[in-house]
Amino acid sequence: MKATCIANSNIALVKYWGKRNEKLILPCNSSISVTLDGLETTTTVEFGEKYKKDEFFFNGKKTEDKQGQKVSNHLALARKTLGKKLFARVQSQSNFPVAAGLASSASGFASLTVAAVNALGSKLSQKELSILARQGSGSASRSIFGGFAEWKKGVKKNGSDSYAFQLFPKEHWPEFRVIVCIVESTEKKIKSRQGMEQTVKTSPFYKDWLLTIEKDLNLARNAIRQKNMELLGMTAEVNSLKMHATMLTAKPAIVYWQPKTVELIHLVEQIRENGMQAYHTMDAGPQVKIMCLEKDAQKIKKLAMETGIQKTIEARPGDAARITEKHLF
Ligand code: PMV
Repeated sequence: MKATCIANSNIALVKYWGKRNEKLILPCNSSISVTLDGLETTTTVEFGEKYKKDEFFFNGKKTEDKQGQKVSNHLALARKTLGKKLFARVQSQSNFPVAAGLASSASGFASLTVAAVNALGSKLSQKELSILARQGSGSASRSIFGGFAEWKKGVKKNGSDSYAFQLFPKEHWPEFRVIVCIVESTEKKIKSRQGMEQTVKTSPFYKDWLLTIEKDLNLARNAIRQKNMELLGMTAEVNSLKMHATMLTAKPAIVYWQPKTVELIHLVEQIRENGMQAYHTMDAGPQVKIMCLEKDAQKIKKLAMETGIQKTIEARPGDAARITEKHLF
C-alpha cells in the first residue's frame, strides 16, 4: 500500500487566473504550460491500518497547518473516488523554493495524486488523474503531463470536462528553455487561491482579461507547433502582464513584484534590444522566468545573476508525473 511519484513543476505560458467554482477548482479560462525538467517534487504515500489519521511531512518536517489539512482533504477525495477507507502517511520533498510563485503546488498535488492512486492499488487514466489533481491545485492538472500541456476550462458544472492533455511532447522542442530567476525565496503573503478570488471579485479589468484568452491560446498553440520563439515569447509575456494588470487593479491591490522583479523585466527588454531572444513571465510571486533558446541560455543566466539575484535554475521541457521505486520512507 505504498507508492512514490515524482512530478515536475510547470510554468504557464497562457495563465490560469480565476475560478468559476472554488470548491471543484473549475477555472474561468483555459491555460497552456510547459512542464519544467529539474524542478521536482517527490511524494511517497502509504495507506495502512496502523495510521489513525493522515500524517504529512514536508521536506522532513511534520506539517499540521493549513497545508497539512489540504493534503488530508486531497487524500479524502482520492479515497472517495476509489471507494477506500484507510488513512495514510505522506512524505513530500521539493528540490526548489516552495510557495514563492514557483508553482510548487503543481508538482506537489500532481505527485500526491499519482502516488495516492497507486498506493491504493488503483489504475486511473491520465485524464482521470488530471481531474483529481486539479481539485488539489488547478495548475497540478497540467503537471500530470510532460512537454507542453493545455488545461481545458470545460463547461460542465461537475468539472468532468475540465482536465489537461498533452499538446506536444518534450522532444518536440528540446531547445526551448526557461530560466527561473529566484529573486526571493521566502513564502509569499497572498496565496494564489486568495489572490484569484480577490481579483475576480474586485478588478474592473477581470472581464477584459477573459476576452483576450482565446486569441492567446491560439497564438501559443501555433507558436509551439512552429517552434516560433518570438511569437510564443511575445504571447506569453503579454499574457502574464495582462494577468498582473488584473491583480494590480484589484481592491486591495495585489503587488507580487519586488524591485528585482522590475529590474529583471527591464533587463529582458535590454537583452532583446541587443538582438537576443528573451521574454519574461511571472506567476503569483516575485520570481521572473525568462523564456529563451538553449544557445542563449548561458549568456542570459550570467546577465540575470549580475543584477544581484540569489540564483537561477535553467529548465528544459520536462517529463510527465512518474512512479519510482525510490520511496522517501
Ligand atoms: O494552481 P494554483 O492555485 O497554484 O494557481 C496557479 C496560478 C498561476 O500560477 C498564477 C497561473 C498558472 O496557470 O499556473
